Amino acid sequence: MINESINGLKRTHMCAEVDENCINQQVVIMGWVNKRRDLGQLIFITLRDRTGIVQVVINEDKTSKEIFKKAESIRGEFVLAVKGNVILRTKENINPDMKTGKIEIEAEELRILSEAEVPPFQVADEGVKDDLRLHYRYIDLRRPEIQSNLITRHKIAQTVRSFLNQEGFLEIETPVLTKSTPEGARDYLVPSRIYPGNFYALPQSPQIFKQLLMISGFDRYYQIVKCFRDEDLRADRQPEFTQIDMELSFIDMEDIMSINEKLIKKVFKDILDLDIQTPFIKMTYEEAMTRYGSDKPDIRFDMELVDISEIVKDTELLVFKSALENGGSVRGINAIGCGNYPRKQIDALVDFVKTYKAKGLAWISVKENNEFKTTLSKFFTNEELANIANKFNAKSGDLILICADKNEIVFDALGNLRLEIARRENLTSTDDYKFLWVVDFPEFEWDEEENRFFAKHHPFTMPLDEDIPLLEKDPSKVRAKAYDMVLNGFEIGGGSIRIHQQEVQQKVFNVLGFSKEDAQKRFGFLLEAFKYGAPPHGGLAFGLDRLTMLITKCSAIRDVIAFPKVKDASCPLTDAPNVVDEKQLLELGIKVDKFNSRIQNIEE
Ligand code: AMO
Repeated sequence: MINESINGLKRTHMCAEVDENCINQQVVIMGWVNKRRDLGQLIFITLRDRTGIVQVVINEDKTSKEIFKKAESIRGEFVLAVKGNVILRTKENINPDMKTGKIEIEAEELRILSEAEVPPFQVADEGVKDDLRLHYRYIDLRRPEIQSNLITRHKIAQTVRSFLNQEGFLEIETPVLTKSTPEGARDYLVPSRIYPGNFYALPQSPQIFKQLLMISGFDRYYQIVKCFRDEDLRADRQPEFTQIDMELSFIDMEDIMSINEKLIKKVFKDILDLDIQTPFIKMTYEEAMTRYGSDKPDIRFDMELVDISEIVKDTELLVFKSALENGGSVRGINAIGCGNYPRKQIDALVDFVKTYKAKGLAWISVKENNEFKTTLSKFFTNEELANIANKFNAKSGDLILICADKNEIVFDALGNLRLEIARRENLTSTDDYKFLWVVDFPEFEWDEEENRFFAKHHPFTMPLDEDIPLLEKDPSKVRAKAYDMVLNGFEIGGGSIRIHQQEVQQKVFNVLGFSKEDAQKRFGFLLEAFKYGAPPHGGLAFGLDRLTMLITKCSAIRDVIAFPKVKDASCPLTDAPNVVDEKQLLELGIKVDKFNSRIQNIEE
């Protein structure tokens, strides 16, 4: 069959817009065949477009032979144009689950605009392997849920734009072919043809350019922009992702936080019709770590970390003792009501914390009448155990889980264990949105392997005024004017006030071990710009993907990205990355001596 053309036929309605108001009207709809049911003399077709589905009926008695014959040849995913009369369905045929379930369209004209082969999976199929879905992403994207996610993403972006426009921000684009930026992940590099052996770096964020725009006097900038970081992919991380990026002049931290609370309030009102309470809680980094073992705490539930180092300080138990002697701590959480976990389940928790480098997990199951079942019975008397249980406020039926190690490991292990228990016990709801700001981050992070400080945010982050003298005395204690917005355990945004005085910048570079030459080589153009009049400025960037994921209640950002990458950072649709022609390499002056061709793993 030859595909027919639209040829003057004009669409009057989107599929799901046809409703009772259209009864007895003639409508023209166009879309994909969702399903065809053949009852002999009657053929039902549900037609789908991005608004939803509507039922078309082709009645052998009422239509031409030609149309009926055509209808018999139609299969799923054919693209049709249908002209017909809207009628009310008989009572017994009403489908209350369908937006258009009260009506149907009696076809008078039917055109097959495009035929379709049998697709590799049905659009509505659940349980299709991810690789296959992403290889045929254009079919996968026909699913109503994923279309709805992308429509929500679009609406969020529109709300953000309109809010920031009103607040006096200008949308300005910045280069994609640029020089390494200071976010600290691995760069994606693009070879230069004109200067063989030279490379552009794709921006990890527009950080430096937005600062330059402040120096140029643009006052308030924003951009919804792609950023590129060659880091391991996770549920909330993609190698290319989108930031809502902004920078403001002549402001302080409070101004930036308050504007962004207003922005978020507006987004949640417009998209979910939810009233988010502002101002958000502010929690220092230190408090977040000691209470939740995380700098992005999920505060939808309690289960806070408890420090029992003091109670157990005289113990002979080696793991506790050595942790304390080495400056670490002994902490735990109370998994309320989990005292009946069978041994196997507790062992799984022990294995779980080991993935966070913890050596193990001690546990106390609290029974009736001050009885305990525990891994600690050899080292602690019943009275001591009761004392510990008391510190956790634990009652009969609770399970105390304890970790002893360097603080860093204890926080990481217990912070994640807390989330794992919450997941197992269903303690959170995706309808519950709990925001907070985490503030007073350390300016620097010590790297054991490289034996040097790194910038925790980036090297242009202003230290707290009162901590500036510590830059020379004790850099590890310097706190930054940096802030993260956290939602339900995800860092959805982060930013800082920038350094605009050269002396402070130099001191920060000194701590980072950048010689004047190093700094000049990496960021010379920015440092030079600072010489010509830099306003005090600061900014923030949201992860649009993460924000959309939480608003659409998805569990991974790839569900809100049209064409995402998979675990190995490849694109199953286009097969990128891929080898290139020898000629292209020659032009770039590149000789490749390690080929590792990607193995296609699509199950047909
Ligand atoms: P930062 O590195 O914190 O700050 O990034 C800002 C926000 O971007 C999101 N994000 C990501 N989302 C998906 N995949 C990733 N790989 C990924 N990496 C980061 C997070 C994060 O909060 N230039 C600074 C901002 C500033 O200081 O103004 C910056 O890029 O939601």
